[in-house]
Parts: sequence; C-alpha cells; structure tokens
Amino acid sequence: MERTLSMIKPDGVERSLAGEIIRRFESAGLRIVAMKMMRMTKEIACSFYTEHQGKPFYENLTDFMSSGPIVAMVLQGENAVLRNRALMGATDFREAAPGTIRHDFARDVTKNIVHGSDSTESAAREISFLFSELEIHCD
Ligand code: RTP
Ligand code: MG
Repeated sequence: MERTLSMIKPDGVERSLAGEIIRRFESAGLRIVAMKMMRMTKEIACSFYTEHQGKPFYENLTDFMSSGPIVAMVLQGENAVLRNRALMGATDFREAAPGTIRHDFARDVTKNIVHGSDSTESAAREISFLFSELEIHCD
C-alpha cells in the first residue's frame, strides 16, 4: 500500500485547523499510520527542503517552516501521494480548486497550510527523514 508524508504547517496548527484537516484525510479514506507534533529547527527545515535550495522562496519557506510546531503524518492508501495532493489543492491557493484544503483555508502562497510529498520517491525520503520504523504503525 502506498504511503505519503503530510505536514500541517505552522499556520495550520496556529489557526487550529489540525482537526479539520485530519478529518478530511480520514473521510477520504487515507489511513493515518504515524503522527506527531514537532518543531523543525531552521537547519532541519533547510535539509528537508533541500530540493528548493537556491530558489527565491527558499529562505522565506525555511524560516516559516521553523517558526512554530507542525503536525507530521504518514498517510497510507491506494495512490496516497496523488490523493493527498488532490485534497491539498494547488501550491498557490488562488489556483486551488474549491473544496481543497488550500482553496478553503490558505491566503498566502508560502503559508499554505499543508505539505504533501510530490512522488513516491519523495515520500520515501521524507517519511524516513521524520519518522523511525517504530513510529509507523502498519495495518
Ligand atoms: P509542498 O512541498 O509544501 O507540499 O508544496 P508544493 O509541492 O505544492 O510546492 P513546492 O513547489 O514544493 O514549494 C514548496 C513550498 O514553498 C512555498 N512556496 N512559496 N512563490 C512563492 O513564494 C512560493 N513558492 C512555493 C510554499 O509553501 C510551497 O508549498
Ligand atoms: Mg513540494
């Protein structure tokens, strides 16, 4: 069964949207097989988002991601990567479809509520970056 990494970003936690977002994942049939609240250091955020190093938004993004606690989850299900991305909506909330998390809650391109792995390869890297095997609970 496919797995993906989801994070409720610091703005989502700050705005008390964690429950609503988790409800959307569960209602869509994605199973939570790991979950924890944590705060990334700037260094950890830089390392997590290393693919974006050098891009104009990298400093802003890594400052933001280390600015407060996040909720990290491993979601499991058929096509979990794409299904999670569909629930999230487009990176830019102005282009996100109605009913998606970013359309419904984000009002800023960087502070866009959730993160989701963009491929199964990214998912494998990101899950092992944030979770140990002991923290992942298989069915
Ligand atoms: P994510 O990795 O967080 O799930 O988002 P994504 O795949 O939809 O977007 P990506 O291109 O990977 O960008 C990562 C995050 O960087 C911030 N960003 N800001 N123009 C900008 O100011 C800009 N572009 C991207 C967003 O927080 C985006 O989710
Ligand atoms: Mg991405």
